[in-house]
Amino acid sequence: MKKVAVIGGGTMGNGICHVFAMNGTSVNLIEMNQELADKALATIEKNLDRMVNKEKIDSAQKVETLENIETHTSTVDGVKDVDLVVEAVPENFELKKNVFSDVDKAAPEDAILASNTSSISITKLAATTSRPEQFIGMHFFNPVPVMKLVEIVRGLDTNQETVDTIEETAKLLNKNPVEVADYPGFVSNRVLMPMINEAIYCVYEGVAEPEDVDSVMKLGMAHPMGPLRLADFIGLDVCLDILNVLHEGFKDPKYRPCPLLVKMVDAGKLGDKTGEGFYEH
Ligand code: CAA
Repeated sequence: MKKVAVIGGGTMGNGICHVFAMNGTSVNLIEMNQELADKALATIEKNLDRMVNKEKIDSAQKVETLENIETHTSTVDGVKDVDLVVEAVPENFELKKNVFSDVDKAAPEDAILASNTSSISITKLAATTSRPEQFIGMHFFNPVPVMKLVEIVRGLDTNQETVDTIEETAKLLNKNPVEVADYPGFVSNRVLMPMINEAIYCVYEGVAEPEDVDSVMKLGMAHPMGPLRLADFIGLDVCLDILNVLHEGFKDPKYRPCPLLVKMVDAGKLGDKTGEGFYEH
């Protein structure tokens, strides 16, 4: 990939820009306005500084990485000369559909379109474009510069060339690609979210306090973060959305979101991003 466009500069989008730019790819970072684009760039710079301080990269690499990033506020301009578009806007089907409608019209015919969605069907998103065979899920994990996995989601019509190219691209980013089929929650969230939901049920039913649930999983299962701390980190609204996708997609009561999770989201306690979830941040 010589040039990629990343749409959305939020937590996932700025992390995706960071890893492409750090590995020598020119990146067009597309945001709704310059203020949001500058905020994303400032976060990338802060995370690069963290890597310089830990001696994972040197100052020259930091400068080169930042020089590889160009910001755009127009999707049409930002995608017109790229080989790959990675969409990382909020998890809303209509929003993503509108983004891909602009992208599909403006991106070069041979460009691959990828979504970083954590739960929306790749097949359904692909079907809104004129190139479902060149459409794929490229699911990164937070914090993107640290986590080694890219879950590659093959839609019903995704062709082999697209899968091979994206797997190769993930490897060039020093990530490990794992290919999965397009079913609700793919593999990552189909396994992770029931665990987080069950941890919330433990609190709801008074089995244990959040700190104790997390200690069990950290000390007994060697998880880097307990499931409730992780839920706060991911965002309780995001966890609820993904559980709803699993529940509706499989029609299986085992995915029913815990009423405590629903109540916390209703109260606006969404975890790290609002300063309060299972923990105060
Ligand atoms: N950019 C660059 N480096 C970063 C970083 C960032 N944004 N965030 C952390 N780091 C680096 C730190 O500098 C540190 O480097 P060293 O190993 O050289 O010291 C290392 O990562 C560890 O960070 P910290 O020392 O600050 O803190 P920690 O040891 O507690 O680790 C963590 C933090 C990496 C987040 C770890 O707790 C962890 O792995 N947690 C689980 C994260 C996880 O499960 N993510 C997936 C969520 S699900 C998802 O994203 C997708 C979905 O669909 C919902």
